[in-house]
Amino acid sequence: MEHSLTRPSEVVRTEALGRDIYRLTLVAPQIAEDARPGQFVMVQTAAGKDPLLRRPFSIHQIAGNGTVQILLKVVGRGTRLLAETKQGDFISVFGPLGKGFSIPKAGQNICMVGGGMGIAPLLFLGKWILRSGFDGKLIALLGARCGDEITTLKEDFIHLGLHPMIATDDGSAGHHGLVTDLMPRNMTPDEEWLVLTCGPYPMMRGVAKICKQKNWSCQVSMETMMACGMGACLGCAISKPNDLHSYQHVCKDGPVFEMSDIVWR
Ligand SMILES: Cc1cc2nc3c(=O)[nH]c(=O)nc-3n(C[C@H](O)[C@H](O)[C@H](O)COP(=O)(O)OP(=O)(O)OC[C@H]3O[C@@H](n4cnc5c(N)ncnc54)[C@H](O)[C@@H]3O)c2cc1C
Ligand code: FES
Repeated sequence: MEHSLTRPSEVVRTEALGRDIYRLTLVAPQIAEDARPGQFVMVQTAAGKDPLLRRPFSIHQIAGNGTVQILLKVVGRGTRLLAETKQGDFISVFGPLGKGFSIPKAGQNICMVGGGMGIAPLLFLGKWILRSGFDGKLIALLGARCGDEITTLKEDFIHLGLHPMIATDDGSAGHHGLVTDLMPRNMTPDEEWLVLTCGPYPMMRGVAKICKQKNWSCQVSMETMMACGMGACLGCAISKPNDLHSYQHVCKDGPVFEMSDIVWR
């Protein structure tokens, strides 16, 4: 697919959703038109050379008016600068990039499992699945450190018509514990499930382990450091299973992979 050019995108809204969590709405009609759930964009965080490199963010939502949203947590200088953008600012956004989730045939049940900022692509994914005429069960299991991180996102899933199950590390909302604890409780063992997951590596490893035990299919959205986002720098290489000396690239071959394509450590 052709990428939208790096035309500056106007920031139309910056929302604070919780401590250090922000949602940016950007005018990017071509990205909004081309994007598929699980794809990402590379975002320039400052006009000058510091930081020099663009930062990758999942496409969180798109809208018919040509806007694209990203959800971000402030972890360093680039994300801090993005969180400080104001309505009317312009930032350069490149994408959509990578391979997203493969949406299954009708009739299969789908469970989306997200943790932390890994929840970002699942809202777009859920909406896409529902609009595709999908007729199986669709559930969302969402994990966060505390209730404050998840309140607005939970409402967004409810607005879609889903009733997400929540797990928090501190027990301030939903189940006190791991989001993976929610899988056996909410997924009927005698039915066929496809699990679509995005979040911290240990969480996805736990999800993949359960799926393997239950013989459920699973696609995982991997996260690595990325410099170019399009297969040129080779900085996002991860080993291929069965041959640890050959590599695949998260930005180009992923970020979404079948769980069997990942070497789980
Ligand atoms: C495909 C993809 C999609 C992503 N989607 C989102 C998203 O939707 N929302 C979101 O908040 N973040 C997302 N990220 C992570 C995001 O790109 C980083 O948090 C961001 O680049 C940090 O930039 P910074 O300048 O603020 O921090 P830096 O100063 O660059 O780094 C701060 C700290 O974060 C660590 N870090 C930076 N990037 C990564 C990374 N990719 N993986 C693990 N650790 C990292 C650094 O090692 C350092 O410890 C995604 C990453 C990838 C690869
Ligand atoms: S980020 Fe450069 S090759 Fe993947």
